[in-house]
Amino acid sequence: MTKAHLKQGQTIALDGLHNITLITPQDVEHIIGMLNHPDFADLVFHSPLPEEAMRGFFGPAAEDVQASIKAGDWPVEPKVIIRDQDGQFMGMSAANMISPMNPGNYEIGFMLMPHAWRRCIATRACKFMTALAFEELGSHKLTAESYASNIGAVRVLEKNGYAHEGLQKGFFKDVTGVRDKVVYGMSVEGYTALKAADA
Ligand SMILES: CC(C)(COP(=O)(O)OP(=O)(O)OC[C@H]1O[C@@H](n2cnc3c(N)ncnc32)[C@H](O)[C@@H]1OP(=O)(O)O)[C@@H](O)C(=O)NCCC(=O)NCCS
Repeated sequence: MTKAHLKQGQTIALDGLHNITLITPQDVEHIIGMLNHPDFADLVFHSPLPEEAMRGFFGPAAEDVQASIKAGDWPVEPKVIIRDQDGQFMGMSAANMISPMNPGNYEIGFMLMPHAWRRCIATRACKFMTALAFEELGSHKLTAESYASNIGAVRVLEKNGYAHEGLQKGFFKDVTGVRDKVVYGMSVEGYTALKAADA
């Protein structure tokens, strides 16, 4: 099973233990539950969020993805759901357009249920979405951002060859205080060089 099958809405292997499929509307409640998990609050800015806001974002996003599958196209913003072999929801990864005015420029994201952490799943999901963005979506530049304190996210990006491109002091502010944002990136030239070195 290949990326072409994923594009058709089929489930494909992420690794020997986990599968991925493009998001469906039925996945939205799992995503809301994950984002509202108390362990997320210290790792991502958008947690917790009002459920209606999350439903209003992920619901239409899932519908758009399903419409693309029917049309035989890659979604404009692919979002994949990760499950284990028993079908248990493990998390998701996404490539989101940074701006329609700057096509080919995507932000890569990944988030997993706490029970799935520290099993290399995010590392593999990031690798998969990076390849998808460069090889299928024609991206020229990928960016990923997180709290600078999110060591797991930073490690996932570094392990996938993303370069540290910046630190924005005090970027995020909520009731808990301010936090720095770290920015990582990869160009298509960097991706091509990494792939050649791996071959
Ligand atoms: C960040 C997150 C995606 C990491 O996922 P994961 O599947 O646990 O990461 P991996 O198992 O692939 O680990 C990658 C590396 O990070 C390290 N790591 C993961 N979580 C860590 C943590 N909390 N503290 C320190 N190191 C951590 C792992 O040890 C591994 O490094 P190593 O290979 O050098 O040992 C996961 O914790 C998560 O979903 N958090 C909530 C959402 C989030 O923060 N998303 C990222 C925002 S961009």
